[in-house]
Amino acid sequence: MPPPPSRRSILAGAASLGLAPAARAAGPAGFGPLGRPSWASDSLQAAASAKGLMYGCEVPFHRFDGTVAYRQAVARECGILVCGTEMKMEEVLPAPGRSEFSRGDAILRFARANGQRMRGHTLVWHAALPPWVAPLLGRASPVQAEDFMRRWIETVAGHYRGQIVAWDVVNEILGNETDPDRGGGLRDSPWLASIGPGYVDLAFRILHETDPAAAGTWNEDAVEQGVPWMEAKRTKVLRRLEAMRARGVPIRRFGLQSHLTSTIPIDQGQLRRFLREIGQMGLGIAITELDIDDRAFPSDVATRDRKVADFARRYLDVALDEPALLDVVTWDIYDPDTWLNDHPYRKRPDGLAQRALPLDAQYRRKPLWHAMKAAFQAAPDHTAARERLRRG
Ligand code: G3I
Repeated sequence: MPPPPSRRSILAGAASLGLAPAARAAGPAGFGPLGRPSWASDSLQAAASAKGLMYGCEVPFHRFDGTVAYRQAVARECGILVCGTEMKMEEVLPAPGRSEFSRGDAILRFARANGQRMRGHTLVWHAALPPWVAPLLGRASPVQAEDFMRRWIETVAGHYRGQIVAWDVVNEILGNETDPDRGGGLRDSPWLASIGPGYVDLAFRILHETDPAAAGTWNEDAVEQGVPWMEAKRTKVLRRLEAMRARGVPIRRFGLQSHLTSTIPIDQGQLRRFLREIGQMGLGIAITELDIDDRAFPSDVATRDRKVADFARRYLDVALDEPALLDVVTWDIYDPDTWLNDHPYRKRPDGLAQRALPLDAQYRRKPLWHAMKAAFQAAPDHTAARERLRRG
């Protein structure tokens, strides 16, 4: 059992994040000029932006860095990108006193060169923490832990200041079906244990002080589909959002991760009511990590692709009816990359690879791509709502 970190190491760990101000001012000059939009006139982004929406995807660095065809597909289809891991603490702070921005910077430069925007993912999460941080938080006093959170957010959001349209400030803060409820629905987390339930509001306030232009977003999973425990979770979300707004917390958006699973139905009525209640609070809404876990659908590719497309359409038709819905982001765009194939309980019983995303292994546009385009084309115009929410 290693000795508990000393107060000195806790403060050193926190202080290690204090980059010199000069080091933080990356600013637009640091990331290259904003280029002409790269997306094609027949792309998902073209269909989305015609209705005041944006479409984009998560970009994993290993694929981005290694494959020209992948970069070409992302440039052709997307208007907004998000890093899958490159802006998470696990990658940015690999060791005390060391920060690593090169991969996130490379993806941001690519986006700017293509006239694309960037989402930031994610500031405060119970996962993707470097191995040295959980023990540090575990022994920190609340004040020390708050200082550590502040220095972390100031470091990463300061580095990308002015470049991020919306930061996932907190991610997956509520428990799911089997998680113990820690009062008000918050899940176990090193942040909750070291700072207390106030860590959520604090994270939003720090981001707003660091980069007021970035829309602070609460990103949540498992709030999209028609089962009782998700409906109960949606109720907790709404109550917490109302309370945060009443406390003047600078939250501007709610993100539905939208990792939809074919094993659970879409209840369009429940979804519509949930999104409407969020919209009526004056918050923007984003679909932040869309993909379709197809393991309940047949092995046959043509049948499976059609069922995936129909399933996504049932979801998007309702979501895009909500004026406050701003962005639709898929969690990657390229089937072979989907995280679903790596996840133990997401594997298909037939052992086949999932077909969860808009482009297949040859970068061909699948029925899901066509369903998403049709959903954008059928959607009401969101331009006015986007403008109103931008001023919010
Ligand atoms: O970059 C290293 C590489 O250098 C090393 O060789 C390799 C093998 O150890 O690991 C690589 O890092 C991995 C990283 O993905 C990049 O591939 C991390 O170990 C791995 O933990 C990380 O997983 C990511 C996970 O979040 C945790 O950050 C997944 O790619 C990413 O898809 C997943 O995304 C989450 C969202 O953030 C939140 N919502 C759920 C979603 C899916 O789980």
